[in-house]
Parts: sequence; structure tokens; C-alpha cells
Amino acid sequence: MIGSESLLAIQILGRVRATLGDVEIELGPPKQRAVLALLALQPGHPVSLAEVTAALWEGKPPSSASHLVHTYVARLRQALDSGMPRRQRTNVIGSVPGGYRLTIAEQRIDLQAFRHLAHQATVLRESKQPEHAFLMLGQALAKWEDPQLEDLFALLPQRDEVRLIRQELINATLDYISLGLETGRATSVLSVAERLSEMEPLNEMVQARCLQTLARTGQRVVAMERYAVLRGRLQVELGVDPSPELEAAYREVLDGSGSVGGAVESGSAPDRTWRGRGPVIDGLLGRAEDTRQLVRLLDRHRMVTLTGPPGVGKSALALTVADATRHRYSDGVIVVDLSTARTRQDVLRACAHAFGLPRSRDCEPWMLTEYLDGHQLLLVLDDTELALDDTAALIDDTLRANPGVVVLVTSRELLGMPYEAVYQVRPLAVDAEIPADPAGRPPEPALQLFARRAAQVRPGFRLGPSTWEMVATICRQLDGLPLAIELAAACMRTDTLPELVARLADPLREIRPTRRGGPSHHGSLRAAMYRSFALLDATEQRCFASLGALAEDFCAEAAAAVAREIAGEQWNMPYLLDRLVDKSVLEVYDGTGGRRYRMLATVRALAREMLDRFGYADRALTVRSCRNGCDCLDARAPKLAEYYLIS
Ligand SMILES: Nc1ncnc2c1ncn2[C@@H]1O[C@H](COP(=O)(O)OP(=O)(O)OP(=O)(O)O)[C@@H](O)[C@H]1O
Ligand SMILES: [Mg+2]
Repeated sequence: MIGSESLLAIQILGRVRATLGDVEIELGPPKQRAVLALLALQPGHPVSLAEVTAALWEGKPPSSASHLVHTYVARLRQALDSGMPRRQRTNVIGSVPGGYRLTIAEQRIDLQAFRHLAHQATVLRESKQPEHAFLMLGQALAKWEDPQLEDLFALLPQRDEVRLIRQELINATLDYISLGLETGRATSVLSVAERLSEMEPLNEMVQARCLQTLARTGQRVVAMERYAVLRGRLQVELGVDPSPELEAAYREVLDGSGSVGGAVESGSAPDRTWRGRGPVIDGLLGRAEDTRQLVRLLDRHRMVTLTGPPGVGKSALALTVADATRHRYSDGVIVVDLSTARTRQDVLRACAHAFGLPRSRDCEPWMLTEYLDGHQLLLVLDDTELALDDTAALIDDTLRANPGVVVLVTSRELLGMPYEAVYQVRPLAVDAEIPADPAGRPPEPALQLFARRAAQVRPGFRLGPSTWEMVATICRQLDGLPLAIELAAACMRTDTLPELVARLADPLREIRPTRRGGPSHHGSLRAAMYRSFALLDATEQRCFASLGALAEDFCAEAAAAVAREIAGEQWNMPYLLDRLVDKSVLEVYDGTGGRRYRMLATVRALAREMLDRFGYADRALTVRSCRNGCDCLDARAPKLAEYYLIS
């Protein structure tokens, strides 16, 4: 016959309870449960009545304390041996002179079972079997139902053992994490390390292990962030500096020996050659010379910015150049998409994301520069124009702190940094002259691009004598901008070439085929152009709109005359025009009569639309020529609206 003792189990590493097989035994009120817990802390050892009363009443026992303890013990005995015939009762709680003793196989108490397994793990570890030790310690830790031991603390608040037992758990968990890191199981022990770190926020040993685990699972920035917070707390709350152990762990994080370039475990290791958006899928047309020049610029400069009008191909070219030079950088290329970044945190988060790090709520620039520490890589910051100040600050920090990093930027506006090399990306050229024998020479890249994209939506479309001229007209009217050409070609799914040519009278409204897969501002020609308008401040916007009343090509005097007349403003026109040039909505060049400006037809379409927005369209333009007498004022109708917006 099996006695009840052989089935009885007592748990104190969670809710204090006793079970008989699968059945939980009703242990009675808290003080009664506390008696059992106290005895279970030292099984096989006598516990005096005085000790029990002291533990139960925290040193202030009532006069009836002895009597109450006897009653608790009697009831516990009854409960633990419940259902057993008298002869088979085990007397789990035996009486000894002046006290009691719990008589139960040690393995039947979870604390003792834990200690036994933990000891075995230590033996295995000492005999150089870390894998087995890890598994054994895992079994030991599984005995802990509540790492905080809340119930036990509540029942026996004065007992130092409870605190020591909790410390045993912390030590065992630390050993478990160390074994996990030692045996390449950082990912498996991460959640354990995180839980322990929450339990022990100021325990430097615990935090050191957690930092190492985070770093080895590729979360270096999170580890840095945690360290910064912890260092602050240690100084403010405890008035101490980080311990050598914590410092050593942090150094490991910084060295990267636990992350990029080091021991990041397989499965979490990032691709070190290229991260982020890749180069154009079907190759660039007509950019061989640009690519060569940019590769040379990257030889000499640590920061190169590609600037130019909307959709001219800055991003595509930057990625091609990055691809051509990636072999120079032992840690490869990281491409950061900043097309939607507007704030400092947006910029930092986009970088953290591109680096393959988890998004962090309070990412700081130093975390990124420390992440890049010791790395040799090309950092491509793409479409940065909405967050220039914050991007500039990040670049400055990065280049100063990371000598192995080279930055390639694309932006409609240059950043204006002292060491920035600026490369102006021009639209694809389209000859004014149609060749007499088109078949005798290869089409220009702009035409090739149109034909390539048109053939994708209209199989069989080819450039030939019947199509060449119209395609050239389309490309020219779209200023040779690859984005505009692609969008127009996509309209060939439903349009004939003459219909498409007709649409170009109002390109911003008419050229809007379905487009996915690129940045959101490439959804339509208008979206691409409007992004530039949004970059202008209020005065620049008005000035830009007023320029819509001019010919495509004009001088500063003409611009000033128009501004006076239709906007009623005496702006500092050369300065404003320079700002618009910087923002790539205007081009400056040296003409025969001096400095002149040119606006792309697609950009001018937006300026003309904006004439209306600012109420300029109702104004009459009486000036007919500027002081230079050049032909830049060509509005001959009494009202601008009649000339530009209706015709
Ligand atoms: N030379 C080229 N040959 C073929 N396709 C090109 C070329 N240049 C650009 N493209 C294509 O044209 C589109 C617009 O190019 P891209 O995104 O590089 O323009 P962008 O100047 O960066 O525009 P934005 O100022 O809006 O960021 C893309 O689909 C790109 O692949
Ligand atoms: Mg771009």
C-alpha cells in the first residue's frame, strides 16, 4: 500500500500549497499555511515552538500563541493525512521535544527539488558539460512558479531565508543565462534575461547579463539605451558609478563582439553587404558618365549629395553608385529611406530600422554612432529633403565619430554642410531634332525608357518611324524626367500615343496611372511636384507661384517686375531665386545677357496652378518687358487666367 507521504508534494516557490497526487489539499487560513511553509523551509530539522510563534506574529505573539500553533499543526496533520486510515497516516508533521519537524522526502518539496537539480547542473558544468548543465538548470528553474515569492513573503515576512531563497533563484538564473550565452543560445535565454532584468532593475550583475544577451541577439541599440538609463538611475538613486562587471558588459556591447561583426547568433545575423532598398531592378539608362563621376567623388569626399528636381533619378543613381562601390566597404552598404521622415525621431528610427535594429522609442544619435563604431560602410540617406536639419545633424555626428563611414545623400535641396560635395543630377537629354533616319542610330535614354515601360503595359510597342517623333515630343514635354516618363508610359495601357500627347496639356491632372512599389510621393506626377512646393516657406511659395506668369526662361529683373505687379511684393528677388534654385524648382545658368533662370515645364505646370491658389490669376499683367528687354514676359492677355489657365 502506498502511503500518503509518497504522493504528497509541497510547493513554496509559488502559491504555498500541498497536493496529494493531483488533488490540492485545503490548508486552511494564512497562519496555518505559514506553519507548513516554515517547516518546509527546513525539512527534517526541528523547528521550535518559539520560532514558529515568532515567525507567525512577527515577534509579538498573543498569549494564546502556543495553543493556536498546536491547533494549526493538528489541523494540518489532519489535512495532509486526509482520507488515510489511521494506521497508514504518516505523521508528516512530527513532534519533537519543544517543537515540530516536517518528515517528507526532500524531492517532494519544490525548493529542495530545485536545489538538487541546480547542484547537479553545477557538477556538470564543472565537469565541462555546459550543454547538459544548461538543460539541467532549465529543469531546476522550471520549479519556480513565482520568482518574486510573493505568497511566501506575505506568510513569513520576517524570515531572512525567504530573501536568501530569492537570491538563490537570481544566482541560478544568472548561471542559466551565462550557460545559454556560452553555448550559443542567446535567443533562448533572452526572455529569461528580460524577466530577470525587470525583477532586479538595479542589480548590476543581472543587468550586465541582460545587456550581453540583447547584444548577442542583435539588439545592440536597445542594450546601449538600457545601459544609459541604468547608469543614470545608479547615479541618481544610489549615488554610485557602474560596477566593473557592468562596465565590462557595456564594453562588450560597444566592441560589437556580441553583435555586428562578432558573435551574433545565426538566425539573427544581419546581411552585412547590403541593407535597405536595393538598386534599380532593370538597370539605369544613360547614367554611365554620372556613375563614373560620382564614384570618383566618393574617392575624395566623405559626404556626397545628389540633388536635382523631382523624379530626375537621384535615388536610382545613388543606389547604382552604391552598388558599384560596395566592394570598398568591408561592412557593406546601408540604405536608409527617409522619404517620410519629418522629425528628429523619424530620422533616428528610420536609421535604427535600416541598421536592422528594433525600433526604439527614444533612439538617440549617439546610439547610432556607437553602433557604427569601427565599421567601414557606405551609408545612403535617401530622399532626405523633409528633414534636412535633423539629417545634417546626424551626418555630422556620424562622420566625426565614425572615420570608416562615407555618406551618400539624395535630396531635392542640398544640405549646405562645409564638407558636402554636391552633384547635380540633370534630366535625361532629349534632342530637339528628330533624326532624319531614326533607325540608323540608337534612341536616346529617355526614349528608351519610355519604350521599355510602354512595352511592359502594351506588348509589342516599339520605337519606329511611326512612333519616334511622338515619343520624343512626350519625353521633351516631360523635361526628360525619368519619373514623368515612366508615369506617362504607364498610361499607354489605355491610351494611344496621340491621346497621351493630348493629355500633356495638363500633365499634373492627366498623368496619374496606378503606381505602386516606390515612395508614396511617386504615386502621381502631381504628388512628386507638390512635395517640392511643400518644401518652400510661405514667401518662397508665393514667389514660386508668381514665376508661373513668366516664360520658362527668364531673368531676375523680369521676376521682380512680375512680383511687384501681380503679388504686390518688393521681394529681394536674387536671394529668393537662389533659394528656389537650392530647392531644385529652378535652374540657373549664364545666358548671353547675364544670369538667367529656367523652370522645367512640369514644375511650371505646378507654379501656374499655384497662381490660382494665391489669387494671382485674376491680376492683369501690364509689364511687357523687363529692363534687359529680353523675352521673359509673354503674358499678353489682360488677365493671367485668360492667358494661362484657360488657354
Ligand atoms: N536613368 C534611369 N533609367 C531608368 N530608370 C530610371 C532612371 N532614372 C530614374 N529612373 C526611374 O525613375 C523613377 C524615379 O527615379 P528616382 O526615384 O531615382 O527619382 P528621384 O530623383 O529620387 O525622385 P524624388 O526627388 O522624388 O526622390 C524610378 O522609378 C527610377 O527607377
Ligand atoms: Mg528620390
